[in-house]
Amino acid sequence: MTEHAAIPEGVDEQSSALLRRAYAVVTTEDGQQLYQDWAATYDATMLEGLGYLTPRLVAEALAQHLNALDAPVLDVGCGTGLVGAEAAALGYTTIDGLDLSAPMMTVAVQRGVYRHLLEGDLTQPLPMASRVYAAVVCAGTFTSGHVDASCLDELVRILRPDGWLVCTVHHAVWESLGFAAGFTRLVDAGALAPVVEADIGYYVNSSNDGRLLVYRVAD
Ligand SMILES: C[S@@+](CC[C@H](N)C(=O)[O-])C[C@H]1O[C@@H](n2cnc3c(N)ncnc32)[C@H](O)[C@@H]1O
Repeated sequence: MTEHAAIPEGVDEQSSALLRRAYAVVTTEDGQQLYQDWAATYDATMLEGLGYLTPRLVAEALAQHLNALDAPVLDVGCGTGLVGAEAAALGYTTIDGLDLSAPMMTVAVQRGVYRHLLEGDLTQPLPMASRVYAAVVCAGTFTSGHVDASCLDELVRILRPDGWLVCTVHHAVWESLGFAAGFTRLVDAGALAPVVEADIGYYVNSSNDGRLLVYRVAD
């Protein structure tokens, strides 16, 4: 059974109730209903209610490794586009997004920072050609009731040789959703090299929710 992620202290009741609902998602249908209900207020809940830091941490980690600002970057589980906004603020100009939730991406479109936004399921084969992206970024989507490590092979497939995978994985799902085993397998096979593994707090009031990871694709 998946251990559920903890709710940070000191946040308003409405925000913590929505986060509790997000961490309790079990089926794809639960998740789609949650994000349909939440899309319009997600940014306010996450940024103002919870002090959500993860998109900025992911974008900053990307900037420490990918120098070419015009190189194509794919934001998977992009939601309302918080990672895209942070990456664009750091100068990236060619950002695509993929998410299962059309209502969340309706908000992302309005940011005007994505080149293409695509409705897609990370647990299925992705509709992209191989070796097209210089980086894949992902914040907050490898978490309880969301996406498991079965997507990692597809993410590696669409990355260019020498490309970067920059993501967060919540501690609650590191083992249970297969990330520990999945990354070990890809590193042992020579497909990925570990570059950064750091414990981070996802919110201003929490200190250690998950891992921030940077992997380099083999050339
Ligand atoms: C917590 S939100 C994170 C959104 C954004 N990355 C952020 O940090 O604000 C999780 C996102 O994962 C998406 N998601 C969940 N399951 C998915 C799947 N199987 N394929 C693609 N996206 C999925 C949800 O629709 C939601 O937008």
